[in-house]
Amino acid sequence: MNNHRSIRNFENQSLTDQTKQSLLTAARAGSSSNFVQATSIIEIQDNQIRTEIADISQSATYVNQSGAFYIFVADLYRQSQLLNEHHRNLAPLKTMESLLVSVVDTTIAAENMAVAAESLGLGICFIGGIRNNLPQISKLLQLPKYTVPLFGMTIGIPTSKNAVKPRMPLNNFTATDHYDPANFTDLTQYDAVMQEYYQNRPSHPKQMDWSTSQLDFFKTLRRPEVTEFIHQQGFLTD
Ligand SMILES: Cc1cc2nc3c(=O)[nH]c(=O)nc-3n(C[C@H](O)[C@H](O)[C@H](O)COP(=O)(O)O)c2cc1C
Repeated sequence: MNNHRSIRNFENQSLTDQTKQSLLTAARAGSSSNFVQATSIIEIQDNQIRTEIADISQSATYVNQSGAFYIFVADLYRQSQLLNEHHRNLAPLKTMESLLVSVVDTTIAAENMAVAAESLGLGICFIGGIRNNLPQISKLLQLPKYTVPLFGMTIGIPTSKNAVKPRMPLNNFTATDHYDPANFTDLTQYDAVMQEYYQNRPSHPKQMDWSTSQLDFFKTLRRPEVTEFIHQQGFLTD
């Protein structure tokens, strides 16, 4: 797990059914809040759909070439059907708490799959770029209400691997008993490490440190339309 790095170059070879089965059962085995199992995983096999999702994600090269491509969907549709069949109130299913439960469950399943894939020598990359156009993703996948596609995951045989990207020192994000604002925001040491990393990495070297990258990232509102999509899917409504 400490050797993780995202892989964006894959051999053009599909994963075997047996491997895919192992990955899906690993995803399924994760913890689940109150055992709601609020997750669906959709493998994209159709080349046309895959190409369109790759374009939306602006990750065309590695989404199209990978050995398998999955979309992870936070999913309370099953429960909504059950509640409807029993003429129950859907209000408890539409809340931020329920949405968070489904997002957390789905993320746990995805990371389980990622770790399983890496343990088999495969490479993975999460593809949050699908959220560039959630209505279109939803249309392509024919998603019903009470579902939210969160991210894709490309999995395949790596053709090359980047160096592991340095993470924050432990004292920048771990504490005992209380939040530790002084240590958590003292990023000088980490900025120096990241500056060195960005400057010397073989692909896309740049003059940047972590703090500057975050200032850039939070310069503009990102995907503000996601809120409307969440409402359209039936969450956070009356
Ligand atoms: C939810 C999520 C969405 C991501 N979306 C993308 C993406 O759309 N395209 C991409 O190239 N990488 C994507 N990544 C990969 C991150 O850029 C990567 O994990 C991060 O830069 C750390 O690098 P590493 O995974 O190589 O350690 C995503 C990662 C996560 C967790």
